[in-house]
Amino acid sequence: MMKRTPVKDLLAAKETLGKVMLKGWVRTKRDSKTFSFVEINDGSCLGNLQIIADEGIKGYELIKKISTGAAVWATGEMVASPGKGQTWEIKADEIGLYGEAPSDFPLQKKGHTKEFLREIAHLRPRTNLFGATFRIRSRLAYAVHQFFQESGFHYIHTPIVTASDCEGAGELFRVSTLDASNPPIDKEKKTADFSKDFFGKQAYLTVSGQLEVETFATALSKVYTFGPTFRAENSNTPRHAAEFWMIEPEIAFAEIDENMDIAEAFVKHLVKDTLTHSKEDLSIFAKFVDKTLMQKLDNIVSSDFERLEYKKAIEILQNSNKDFEYKAAYGEDLQTEHERYLTEEHFKKPVFVYNWPKKIKPFYMKSNADGETVAAMDLLVPGIGELIGGSQREDELELLLKNLEEHQIPAEEYYWYTDLRKYGSVPHSGFGLGFERMIMLVTGHTNIRDVIPFPRTPKNCEF
Ligand code: 4AD
Ligand code: MG
Repeated sequence: MMKRTPVKDLLAAKETLGKVMLKGWVRTKRDSKTFSFVEINDGSCLGNLQIIADEGIKGYELIKKISTGAAVWATGEMVASPGKGQTWEIKADEIGLYGEAPSDFPLQKKGHTKEFLREIAHLRPRTNLFGATFRIRSRLAYAVHQFFQESGFHYIHTPIVTASDCEGAGELFRVSTLDASNPPIDKEKKTADFSKDFFGKQAYLTVSGQLEVETFATALSKVYTFGPTFRAENSNTPRHAAEFWMIEPEIAFAEIDENMDIAEAFVKHLVKDTLTHSKEDLSIFAKFVDKTLMQKLDNIVSSDFERLEYKKAIEILQNSNKDFEYKAAYGEDLQTEHERYLTEEHFKKPVFVYNWPKKIKPFYMKSNADGETVAAMDLLVPGIGELIGGSQREDELELLLKNLEEHQIPAEEYYWYTDLRKYGSVPHSGFGLGFERMIMLVTGHTNIRDVIPFPRTPKNCEF
């Protein structure tokens, strides 16, 4: 058999490649008496390629079995297409059928709601919108590595199973091999005896690779981790998933300002990369999902991100005359409505909010001289709200031990983390960018369930 040429290469060809082999899935078929037009998509790009199958070619008897969704192959001469909107088509000399698609194939050519497509998440990559979404996701993952690798960062694989709760929010999924219906009992505590469990202690799916990646930052200087993270937060929102991917750089010798510089350059790099390398796929979002998408992305690339102290953010919110569902108050976390007001209406560009009240932030953040705030930063972006959360880390042993105590975290369990402050401690900072939220930003998708192949959310673990 001849070697297959991807549709992408065929469509991009400057001159005919002569006789070619094409393989893919049928998007549409139109029959006339003596020939058929079959449009093929192979996922290599957004576009389809049309095959013209004349009566009498080898395999023509299969035509009646070839319908939308079927997997086929064809060989033939690549010729200039007279049809508008396409450059090339294939005049088949032979056509073959890999797998038929009976008439109950759910993706017959018509519009489907995103809700319906979520129910057939195993088939939705075969639509234009989701093909484009997941090609953009793939390219963005590459751009993440490119940004860090080309700036001297080392990629660290932090563990998925861990005994620590980085964010201290208690949103942990337990990892256990104990029999849930009949666990061994600790007679003193009258609870399950986890010393009998697989790891000899309680273990969880990680909520963040930060603590572990900090150990490498204080050795290799500039590091990042990029992997799945898990949160058992019971919030059914369009921006939260129980399993999501996070990119977490960690930089030795960097203080909070440099942390913001890197975050800003990183986000701009990812948007620019999408504008450059995913142009064709982006076009479908600009056409059908958000007509102002291109202006929004250009605005991110060309603007200087605002840097705003938390207390100023609260003042702006309180003076805004907006009728928020929750009033903004000093000492409280920002709600999504507050985040979106700041970035979409007030500043109309991405905004860093930094220097947050210590009492609403995790134990590892660096205390500021005022004794009240920590050197924490969130990046808020239009359409999403929080895209990044990060901070400078507490590098003074005494202060870190005090924070652990205040958060009622047993210091002995974090001996390895406090050791980083005992031996050659340095100022260091880092942040976490939610990969799905980044994909939402560049595509205009408004629900996180549409940018991850198989979303895991409360009461939903299909596929
Ligand atoms: O703000 P978070 O909780 O920060 C951390 O986990 C730090 N340890 C990161 C660090 O400093 N290395 O989470 C970081 C980002 C958020 O800004 C958000 O984009 C995303 O992760 N995120 C979620 N994305 C989807 N679903 C969820 N449930 C998410 N929770 C956080
Ligand atoms: Mg956060």
